[in-house]
Formats: sequence, C-alpha cells, structure tokens
Amino acid sequence: MQEFNTQKGLKTYLSSSELKTSTIGFVPTMGALHKGHLALVKKSVEENEITVVSIFVNPTQFNNKEDLEKYPRDIAKDKNLLGGISNSILLFTPSVKEIYSDDVAAGSYDFQGMDLVMEGKYREDHFAGVATIVEKLLTLVMPTRAYFGEKDFQQLQIIRALVCLKKIPVQIVGCPIVREPHGLAMSSRNQRLSESSRKEAGFIYQTLLATKEKFGTENVQSIVDWATAQFNHQRDLKIEYFEIAESDTLKKLTKKQDNKKYRAFIAVYTEGVRLIDNIALN
Ligand code: PAF
Repeated sequence: MQEFNTQKGLKTYLSSSELKTSTIGFVPTMGALHKGHLALVKKSVEENEITVVSIFVNPTQFNNKEDLEKYPRDIAKDKNLLGGISNSILLFTPSVKEIYSDDVAAGSYDFQGMDLVMEGKYREDHFAGVATIVEKLLTLVMPTRAYFGEKDFQQLQIIRALVCLKKIPVQIVGCPIVREPHGLAMSSRNQRLSESSRKEAGFIYQTLLATKEKFGTENVQSIVDWATAQFNHQRDLKIEYFEIAESDTLKKLTKKQDNKKYRAFIAVYTEGVRLIDNIALN
C-alpha cells in the first residue's frame, strides 16, 4: 500500500498522466478503523478504479480536549486492515501541521441551522470543524465519489450541503450503519467501553427499533417521551437527547407529512463515552 504524508506528494501522484482519467473513491476517516469503515472502503474499491483513504484525527472538530486526547489511535493495525481489502489503496496520513500550518482553526459556514441542532447543540462548532477538514480533503483528492457512514447521519447531510455550497463536484455516498452483535452501532469510541457496557448499549438500538414500530400509529411527542423515559430505568446509560426529525432538513418533526422521510436520533453516555445512533422511520 502506498502511503503519503504530504498534500503535495498525494496531489502529484494523483495527477500523474496514467491516473488522471481514473475514477477516484475517497474514504476520509480518523483511524481506529472498524467494520463500519471497512464496509465504506470495500464499497469504494468496488465502485472506483482508485481508492484513497485518509487517516487524520481532526482537532478542530473536537469541542472536548479530553475526547481528542483519548481518541483511539492505532495506525499499524489500520494499515493491516486496509491491506486485507486491497494493496492498491492509497493511504493519506498527514500531520496537523501539514493540514493546518500554524492556524488550527475551523472556517465558518452557513448550513441553514442544520449544524445547530442535535449534535451541533451539544458539541459547539463541531460541524464547522468537520466541514473545514472535509472541504480541505475533497479539494485535495478531487474524488469522483466520497463515502460516509449513516451512523453520523447529521454529518452526512451537512457534507451534502457543504459540497453544494462550495460547488465541489463529487458524489456523496451514504452507507448503512454496521452494528455489533448486540446492536450497538460500530464506532471507534466503542473500544473504550467494557464488554458489559457494549452489551448493555444494545438497548439504544432496541429503543430505536421500538420507536420505528410506534411511528406508524402513535403521536410524535408521546413517542419521544416514551423513548426518553426508557433510559430512566437504565443504570449506566444516560440519555443526552432523543429527537425525531425530517431526514433532509434535520428539522424537528412537529406534524407528519406523507411525502417526507423522518429519522429518530439519539445520543447517550456510558462509562464516560458518548454514543450516537439513528434509524430511518419510514
Ligand atoms: O466521521 C469521521 O470520522 C470524521 O468526522 C471525518 C468525516 C473523517 C472528518 O474528520
């Protein structure tokens, strides 16, 4: 597998005459790869002539210093996992200095309020940080398609808005959530959980599945109240928010409309780790 640490090195390689007309799939990650990431990489390898994977723990999207410091990093293991998929993947592993020079700061964007609800409400400036790094990486790699998991559904919609706003010619591909055996959505942060907590956190998905069941017949507020109350009986799972919102705009659902798609979104703390999940309701 070829690895690049500099933007110039990657750019020069991608613009070489043999590769110039190839389709490029891009999977941006923060490393500590799990089956969810690997599903994105496999899809990219299937659908494109070249796949670029980036591993970069982006400081500007962390509103919590401790979360940034504790974010799992294991580049040797990541390389092994990627090598198991294809040896022709191009790996981009820049330093913070390489990406940001001396100005480690997020840009500012107008996402019409989509960045201020749910995750944005609890993680101030998180999406400005995500948009900043994704814009930099997309502009560098210039992929045909870029792949993102639906576990971070709000992020996925904001990235869709970003490429429209900045007129970046790329197809954004959303991929289904991959789950652990007990239902917990795969996340690099799950590594920080004990085995019993991982199992207990399957309750998050059970609640989302029950929400989907209720969505056809029950009133929205009563479903939200019911789901939130389920966590009162859970000793080690502390709910931060539970919301039902329109999938396209992320606006909180007040009155259902037949032609619109809705999703339920949840954030929960367990053992000091923040977990998020969501489900399509119709
Ligand atoms: O989803 C992630 O891992 C990150 O937010 C991303 C898209 C790689 C940007 O740092």
